[in-house]
Amino acid sequence: MIVTTAKGLTVRVRQFETADINRVIGIEVASFLDGDAPLYLELHEEWPQGFLVAELEGTVIGFIVLVLTPEGDGRIFALAIDARYRGRGVGRTLLKAAFNILRKRKIGYVRLEVRLSNHVAQQLYRSTGFMEIGLVPYYYKDGEAAIVMRKVL
Ligand SMILES: CC(C)(COP(=O)(O)OP(=O)(O)OC[C@H]1O[C@@H](n2cnc3c(N)ncnc32)[C@H](O)[C@@H]1OP(=O)(O)O)[C@@H](O)C(=O)NCCC(=O)NCCS
Repeated sequence: MIVTTAKGLTVRVRQFETADINRVIGIEVASFLDGDAPLYLELHEEWPQGFLVAELEGTVIGFIVLVLTPEGDGRIFALAIDARYRGRGVGRTLLKAAFNILRKRKIGYVRLEVRLSNHVAQQLYRSTGFMEIGLVPYYYKDGEAAIVMRKVL
């Protein structure tokens, strides 16, 4: 699917393919997320439709990974954009594509955890309808707390 973001950048949003793993891990490491390649490949195998990438001129510049919780809700496991392309609407575009995937499966809620210090991501999530529903101390490997947010789809 070809999408022009609200900031005028035209990207292709498509499902992740295993050949994308090095680019995805490159963006993820540079974004200080906690994942690793085997985990991402496993999540893709479990639910291929839940793993999307944004591509600009053939290069992956961002990704989003959805998982399903044991309660049957959606959960945003990871979202990251190459730092060179942040602030151009790609994160918001991937989030909206993810909401649509969950809605097609008739899923009612989506939740996520976000670092207490990550105000940019929190602002993005609030502006797409997420509400804070809790705080988990020491959630991340480095001891930082997570804000838990949830949105009605
Ligand atoms: C969070 C992240 C995914 C946002 O992606 P992005 O493509 O830069 O975001 P967008 O351009 O779609 O912007 C969406 C909203 O985020 C907020 N935002 C983006 N850049 C911002 C900045 N520099 N300062 C404050 N808010 C900002 C704004 O609310 C913006 O909405 P607006 O442009 O309508 O005002 C990206 O910054 C990123 O990869 N960060 C590192 C990894 C990370 O923190 N992931 C989230 C983990 S929970």
